[in-house]
Amino acid sequence: MRRGPASRKLKQGALSLAANSRSAFILALALAGPLAACAPTSNKGETVLTFSGSALGAEGTLVAKQLKRFMELNPGVRVELQRTPDDASQRHQLYVQWLNARVGNPSILQLDVVWTPEFAAAGWVLPLDRYGPPRAEFFPATITANTWAGKLYALPWFADVGLLYRRTDLVPNEPKTLEEMVTDAQAAMSRRGGPRYGIVWQGARYEGLITGFVEYLGAFGGRIIDDKGEVVVNRPEAVRALEFMRDELYKTNVAPLDVLTWHEEEARFAFQNGNAVFMRNWPYPVAAMSDTAQSKVAGKFAVSPMPASGAAPSGHSTAALGGAQLAINAYTDHPDAAYKLIAYLTAPEQMLERAQAVGQYPTRPALYNDARLRSAIAIPLENARRAIESATPRPVTPIYTELSEILQIELHRALVRQVEPREALNSAAARINALIERTGMRKLMSGAAKESAP
Ligand code: GLC
Repeated sequence: MRRGPASRKLKQGALSLAANSRSAFILALALAGPLAACAPTSNKGETVLTFSGSALGAEGTLVAKQLKRFMELNPGVRVELQRTPDDASQRHQLYVQWLNARVGNPSILQLDVVWTPEFAAAGWVLPLDRYGPPRAEFFPATITANTWAGKLYALPWFADVGLLYRRTDLVPNEPKTLEEMVTDAQAAMSRRGGPRYGIVWQGARYEGLITGFVEYLGAFGGRIIDDKGEVVVNRPEAVRALEFMRDELYKTNVAPLDVLTWHEEEARFAFQNGNAVFMRNWPYPVAAMSDTAQSKVAGKFAVSPMPASGAAPSGHSTAALGGAQLAINAYTDHPDAAYKLIAYLTAPEQMLERAQAVGQYPTRPALYNDARLRSAIAIPLENARRAIESATPRPVTPIYTELSEILQIELHRALVRQVEPREALNSAAARINALIERTGMRKLMSGAAKESAP
């Protein structure tokens, strides 16, 4: 999830309260959460909804504009914007605190694609089936990710896919393999005045690290969980993927060690300021990076898929599937009005406008035949559509957050060279298996894995 200046301020505020300790931070959220989420006051007869979603910079302006239009179309409904941190893990913590306390605001929740099963299984979001949502109009993978126990719990708002950005003035042709990407990066870095960094991405210990890992994993033919629901994250392909990340990227200095603390925005700043040859990121940076007023690389970059390893026969080019969904808070007093707003924001016109304003990919395949989308998206529409259709989801399970946390810790330990990749992945597999047993998820996961797992 993106982090801009506003969310950084939020985080700093909370952290200074909590003297930098994680548990104290969570406690601070727990105390502040329900208060911050107090029901807004309403005039008599007025329905008041609260909407929380990405609301920074251009996204904030767009959301405000669309909410205003919705209110004009629906007199009697007032929608208030409730700010939440833009960092995926922080927003998740806040939502969990509020929903545990059965707070009905925000009425509409913006869920990361990996949260829906968890929120659905906990009873925190309402099934949408009774509103007759137009499932068939969305990409099937985005519907699968929002379905739990046969019911649809959220509508896909925008889709994210992992992309490889490259400086076309330094590397004219897209690398066909990961190995080629490393050599291209080294060649460009060693040119006089060449960028400081070879490749930048999201290496901090948070959800972004998992999305990057999923891409290297696929590039070497590995997966986290297989079709039978078995944990295979410690198989030789996965070990090779992690070794590649540690040795070819960090050891050779193609990726700076700083990347191990970076999120989406730090990577974007480095690339946008001309300091990197390649960047792994989502589609959103295209808009800002094409703007000559703020970008040193406008007109000098292109995007292509992350390549597969040339040394792994079962490896394939892999893009992680990300994105945001909109769901109804189960504790809201106004579920019908909330659905109306979700339907409005995910309707073709609003989605198109979102793509045009902030470059985020629509979740409706039909829009990829619409010429108006062409100027909004950096790659040919057909390629964007195919990237989403073939993107690799993370495991679809209510215990995803815990699973991810285990993996984040173990991957990071290997990347900072505290343990060997094999050891880290063995430990991750053992801990994930124990989690699956403890929560009785084995059977459920083998069903869900068939449809999705990377
Ligand atoms: C983006 C993606 C989301 C992912 C997150 C990781 O926001 O849309 O799916 O989990 O980045 O940082």
